[in-house]
Amino acid sequence: MDRRDVPQAVITRLPRYYRYLGELLEEGVERISSNELSERMKVTSSQIRQDLNHFGGFGQQGYGYHVPTLYAEIARLLGLDRVHNMIVIGAGNLGRALAGYANFEKRGFNITALFDKNPELVGKKNVRDIETYAMEDIEEYMDTHEVEIAVLAIPKTGAPEVAKRLCDKGIKAIWNFSHTDLDVPKGVVVENVHLSESLMKLSYAMEEA
Ligand code: NAI
Repeated sequence: MDRRDVPQAVITRLPRYYRYLGELLEEGVERISSNELSERMKVTSSQIRQDLNHFGGFGQQGYGYHVPTLYAEIARLLGLDRVHNMIVIGAGNLGRALAGYANFEKRGFNITALFDKNPELVGKKNVRDIETYAMEDIEEYMDTHEVEIAVLAIPKTGAPEVAKRLCDKGIKAIWNFSHTDLDVPKGVVVENVHLSESLMKLSYAMEEA
């Protein structure tokens, strides 16, 4: 199955399926019916059937889903079947917290370097054994290392310029935590993450409850 054939709404739900299927695998569950999965995930079994029907014949009447196959297929679609090298721009509280989270590596997201404009942080291993480099070194680093993803964990004022430098050097994707929308060339993927927006949604839901 080609990922382009899968609707966007289904793709946004895939990480959650992936997480639940991973838990089932850890429990040694080989197969599961859509009803059982529905109870676990608290979504309707028809939604599950519709979503997972996009992934070929893994669901069979009277059998359910073969958990390892479906897990592997979703991993492949999400690009989790290979390693992605990432650099983190901004070695402050957020950048260090992200770089310190070793679980990303288990999913194939390998953080190889941090960059910061503060000379006091440069040349040190501020998180685990990951070195912090000076901003002037980004271009050379990208010339000599394979880097696919950059994490932007700097204030919004510096983000557009840094994003441009990264794009000029052929970055494929930016995981953007800076509070600004980035203007990037076609082909560069940007995923914005705004924890405060999530908190606002929570606050709205509390008002409704
Ligand atoms: P921080 O002040 O602890 O760290 C920022 C780091 O970025 C500092 O080490 C600083 O020297 C460096 N820096 C600043 N401008 C730079 C530039 N142009 N190039 C390279 N390095 C630069 O701040 P913190 O808490 O780590 O937050 C970083 C940014 O992320 C903030 O602007 C904050 O608003 C944003 N943020 C976004 C969140 C989100 O959910 N999207 C959550 C938390 C923070």
